[in-house]
Amino acid sequence: MMKSTLALILAAGIFAIACVFTVVTGQAHILNTSVDVPHYDSAGRLVLPDDYREWVFLSAGLDMNYSDSPPVEGRHIFGNVFVPRTAYRAFKKNGVWPDKTILILEDRMGATKGSINKTGQFQTDIAGIEAHVKDLSRFKDGWGFFAFDGTIPADLIDTNSSCYSCHLEHAAVDTTFVQFYPTLLPVAKKLNTLSSSYRLVAERDAGQ
Ligand code: HEC
Repeated sequence: MMKSTLALILAAGIFAIACVFTVVTGQAHILNTSVDVPHYDSAGRLVLPDDYREWVFLSAGLDMNYSDSPPVEGRHIFGNVFVPRTAYRAFKKNGVWPDKTILILEDRMGATKGSINKTGQFQTDIAGIEAHVKDLSRFKDGWGFFAFDGTIPADLIDTNSSCYSCHLEHAAVDTTFVQFYPTLLPVAKKLNTLSSSYRLVAERDAGQ
């Protein structure tokens, strides 16, 4: 009799511990699902998402140059653009980015010499990481730009900087360069969310 009571208490104890464990790990799972939104430290700096390489890959630009100055001879840069899957799916549905979207532009050096390669370019070391964040309650016109120095949290770039004006004037959708993201441009065309300035330029180019 004593023995079976003891066994019962023991079983109840194990059950209670298992319940607590399930709740705790369940919560950890819930916390994990919120990694897709931007995180800021106590000083308001943007924290670099450590898993952006697991997001949807939008495109890689090679040696894209938006200024009139000539490119540096022999120096090649790839620009890889990533966005969380949740934001990507929302864009496919609505043709614009949902609030709290974070896009990462990861620049990597290009190289030709390596292993069996003879021509062309492959990617090597990181040359810079920038972020473009839609946070309607936080930023004046809804979007903020950041440039990371390694993995240190980044300050918001001043709204007078050319990041804002170039993206506002030339980007095809919602101040993002969807004209260079081949799986999203058809979506924006279909859902009619292209900016009027981009449409004008596209029509002019088509007429030439
Ligand atoms: C003269 C125009 C211009 C300026 C200035 C500019 N960008 Fe961009 N940006 C682009 C273009 C074009 C792309 C598309 C790149 C690609 O397709 O690889 C882009 C893409 C991006 C992306 C990827 C997401 C998106 O919005 O499409 C980020 C992040 C970004 N830029 C950050 C910045 C930051 C930070 C600055 C300022 C320090 C900046 N950009 C300044 C033209 C510009």
